[in-house]
Amino acid sequence: MSTDLSTSWSRHARTYARLGAPFTGYISQSLFHTVAGRLPPAPQILDVACGNGELSRAAVLHCLAERAASGHTGGVVATDFAPEMVALASKNLGALDAGDLVRCEVQDGQALALETASFDAAFSAFGIFLFPDRHAGWREAARVLRPGGIFATAVWRGPNDNALARLQMGPVIAALPARVRDALPRPGWLDIASAEGLEQELSSCGFSEIEVSVFDAVLTAPTPRVMWEMMRENPGTGALIGSCTEAELAAVEQSVLSTFLAMSGGPDRSLRFEASCHFAVARRS
Ligand SMILES: C[S@@+](CC[C@H](N)C(=O)[O-])C[C@H]1O[C@@H](n2cnc3c(N)ncnc32)[C@H](O)[C@@H]1O
Repeated sequence: MSTDLSTSWSRHARTYARLGAPFTGYISQSLFHTVAGRLPPAPQILDVACGNGELSRAAVLHCLAERAASGHTGGVVATDFAPEMVALASKNLGALDAGDLVRCEVQDGQALALETASFDAAFSAFGIFLFPDRHAGWREAARVLRPGGIFATAVWRGPNDNALARLQMGPVIAALPARVRDALPRPGWLDIASAEGLEQELSSCGFSEIEVSVFDAVLTAPTPRVMWEMMRENPGTGALIGSCTEAELAAVEQSVLSTFLAMSGGPDRSLRFEASCHFAVARRS
């Protein structure tokens, strides 16, 4: 596991919980509800790269409702490699008073310390698609699922189909000096930004009966500057500007803020991004 990367995500945890998760949380809870009706009674559910626990919250509420209705007790294991994310998930899920129905653990999704074939369902909302070794992430999710177990993931679509990605990355890339721009690796997740690419990769990593659908949502940010600061701190978008000098960074900031100001109509006004992702639902082969 990359300690640097998990430290960066830990550092970003509070900002993510305040500004990112209310939005991705809506999407990840929708992902859970897409498959909730296909879960067996008393399901054992895993959330990989759970962040501050938005998808796990829906899973815990599902198990609590089932327990109240039928006495069946499933369980939820919420995992993330960033200790600060796990601490926030633990606090958020603890508020549901679910007792030992839920466990929060620091776990690298590329090498889960969990038993083979021990879960009925595994989820990863905007998690595994970011891993440096994404294939290891999918394979680990498949390994811990029982045969026929259900897997669901949310993955961003690329800039051509997703205004959020286009509007975040466009003004950054446009203002980067050639020295930095030419040295940037092509983001690996672009290989699975298309439905075909995602389906192909999942089928090569232990999944079958793969269904990919489009899910659209809207992200709002309080002001242009808050959005820019969140992008700088986020380990994903922040990686684009990691090797900029102060002067280069100032030029990028100006490019981003002027784009966002044009969208919001003023420095103290909120801005709105259309966002589009894929939901993939599959079975462990
Ligand atoms: C964009 S956030 C998504 C969080 C959450 N699933 C949600 O939808 O709100 C990405 C998460 O992946 C986690 N992450 C990144 N690499 C990881 C790895 N190798 N193992 C486990 N978690 C990882 C980060 O710590 C972060 O919480």
